[in-house]
Amino acid sequence: MAKKENKIKIRSMGIYLPEKILTNADLEKMVETSDEWITTRTGIKERRIAREDEVTSDLGVVAAREALEKGGLQPQDVDLILVATNTPDTIFPSTACWIQKKLGVSEIPAFDLQAGCTGLLYGMIVAEGLILSGSLNRVLLIGVDILSKVTNWEDRSTCVLFGDGAGALILEKSEDESGMLSHFWGAEGSLGELLMLPGGGTLHPTSEETLRDKMHYIYMKGNEVFKHAVKRMGEAALEGLERAGLDKAQVDYLIPHQANFRIIDATRERLNLSPEKVVVNVDRYGNMSVATIPVALYELAESGKLKKGNIIVMVAFGAGFTWASIVYRW
Ligand code: ACO
Repeated sequence: MAKKENKIKIRSMGIYLPEKILTNADLEKMVETSDEWITTRTGIKERRIAREDEVTSDLGVVAAREALEKGGLQPQDVDLILVATNTPDTIFPSTACWIQKKLGVSEIPAFDLQAGCTGLLYGMIVAEGLILSGSLNRVLLIGVDILSKVTNWEDRSTCVLFGDGAGALILEKSEDESGMLSHFWGAEGSLGELLMLPGGGTLHPTSEETLRDKMHYIYMKGNEVFKHAVKRMGEAALEGLERAGLDKAQVDYLIPHQANFRIIDATRERLNLSPEKVVVNVDRYGNMSVATIPVALYELAESGKLKKGNIIVMVAFGAGFTWASIVYRW
């Protein structure tokens, strides 16, 4: 087995899920859809929706506080606050800076990373580089999105898919066999237009026209995204395993990005895994973008099923397009 001498590990985790639950039955009253369509096409039954007065940093800071507390740390014990999000509080300053303020600390470097739904894995890879280079010791990585605020609630092709949530990880150097064994990441910018939020940036600055044309909402060519997601997630998972010197049969848990149950299942089949090895929560939370993987990992750990030494494959795909996998020994 290819063995990495230096690894980073997750010291502790935290999550936050808004209280409000929006069910498929609720959506049936809002747009022309049905529980049957949503369930068979996506596997989603319900999702969490942030309150109107809640912003992305509010969700992120709750998850961050839990991760710090579980790790026995104070906010000033981290050397970097890194936030992966597609739905920042403001275009600038970064949500990471707003979270720094809400944590009541200053001076600690803070910035956002934007990589579609792949943001959490991109963030772990960036943190790994910074920690293993000796540049810093400990990273607070937060994956958080409030997609409900950029969703067109009159568009049935997208509004049934998304939910809101946050997850936080404390990352630091591993002193034993546990930690990140390998990573694989990639992007295909030429396909960016298939999944985007077109308005509000320098391409289409907010104007009466952008509002009229609803360019401040998510636009997605769902069936195209679907095909690329299935292909890239399967390939990324296999490449990650090869880079870790591991075989499919050695995988204990697959934690795929939770966009659609059919994409999850196709990735599972690519790895020849039995269904009980795959963590699924898309039925309860929908697609929370960057937050799906940390919430799934947190819930798996809290369930008590995860044992020391277990091999976990995390894999994601999202806007950009971007994709990544991380193979991790618990
Ligand atoms: N209820 C009922 N009917 C609907 C709904 C709905 N909510 N939405 C669409 N339909 C209809 C369409 O109008 C279409 O009708 P038609 O055949 O009469 O034209 C029919 O259902 C089929 O539509 P498709 O878009 O082809 O359906 P598909 O099977 O592709 O499922 C879905 C759509 C669920 C969006 C799927 O394509 C998907 O999951 N795509 C990937 C999403 C994803 O992975 N995103 C990536 C990450 S997201 C991120 O990065 C933020």
